[in-house]
Amino acid sequence: MQYNTTIDHIRLTDDGRGIVILDQSQLPNKTEYVELRTAEEMYGAIKTLRVRGAPVIGIFAAFAAYCLGLQIECCDYETFLKKFTGTAEYLSSSRPTAVNLSWALNRMVETVRKRPGRPPSQIIPDLLTEARAILEEDIAMCLAISEFGLSLLKDGDGILTHCNAGQIATSRYGTALGPILLGRERGMQFRVYADETRPLLQGARLTAWELQNAGVDVTLICDNMASMVMKKGYVQYCFVGCDRIAANGDTANKIGTSGVAIMAKHYGIPFYVLGPTSTIDLATPTGSEIEIELRDPDEIRLKWYSEPMAPRGVKCYNPAFDVTDNSLISGIITEKGICRAPYSESLAALLK
Ligand code: MRU
Repeated sequence: MQYNTTIDHIRLTDDGRGIVILDQSQLPNKTEYVELRTAEEMYGAIKTLRVRGAPVIGIFAAFAAYCLGLQIECCDYETFLKKFTGTAEYLSSSRPTAVNLSWALNRMVETVRKRPGRPPSQIIPDLLTEARAILEEDIAMCLAISEFGLSLLKDGDGILTHCNAGQIATSRYGTALGPILLGRERGMQFRVYADETRPLLQGARLTAWELQNAGVDVTLICDNMASMVMKKGYVQYCFVGCDRIAANGDTANKIGTSGVAIMAKHYGIPFYVLGPTSTIDLATPTGSEIEIELRDPDEIRLKWYSEPMAPRGVKCYNPAFDVTDNSLISGIITEKGICRAPYSESLAALLK
């Protein structure tokens, strides 16, 4: 049996002026690739989660900025810088929580800033080089994170994960799923419990799909079943991804993650956050300062059902992320190593 641990989910179009993505909003029922060329299409793809997952939205935004840079019609440096910065700000405003988005776009804008006075025709190739560097760095980071994560695991371990932090959320391997996929390639087998992850079902639609394709033993559970599988002793580790890690280690990730961490603490199960150092935001002191995206209430009331599953117009609260307190985190696994508490010291040392 051939297992698939690599997916071609993001690339430039053949003419090099647009981006082709695997539309994550259609999975697992349709494997559909869409071509995006305009700023509105690219913004919309992030906003509607056709492309989602912190690292890959950074990679996507970098290539999007390059493609949109190609469309800027002007010839003097100052006008190009102004228009390019405006484009980057527009893309950056599509989702607020994952820092990788603004991080990657800042790198693209800096590429222009560092070349004052040059004609745009000379800057454009450097923008492509920068976008490719962001992609290549992410591939290396994911592989290193996977190795560090795998060093904790032994064959047959049970791992609970929440949301999707796999290959389609990154460049390759993923973060939280990286050790599992790397271990699988090396002939190891784990038992993975995937929380379905209400309301958008990234765990059911994406994690279960990715792991099943890769030949991993995956069991899908509803979010409210995590405590039960922990209590039964099925889970030896919790591995989750991250969207922004504050300087003190408080970590924003998909809504429901903090509940998993609280339960893991109760049952004495190690809870690890896995993410590249690009997700660490030392400018944000604690989790309280992280902006949490609020999404359309109809994602709770209507989505996935043929009939509404709640009274029409009922008030809903739909935060897309929550913050896990650093005291609940056993370690933060990055490409540079595993950080332990006190995180304000270990994270700062890591980024020096
Ligand atoms: O709303 P989403 O699906 O973009 O949320 C994604 C997550 O919370 C992931 O766990 C996180 O981005 C890490 S992806 C490696």
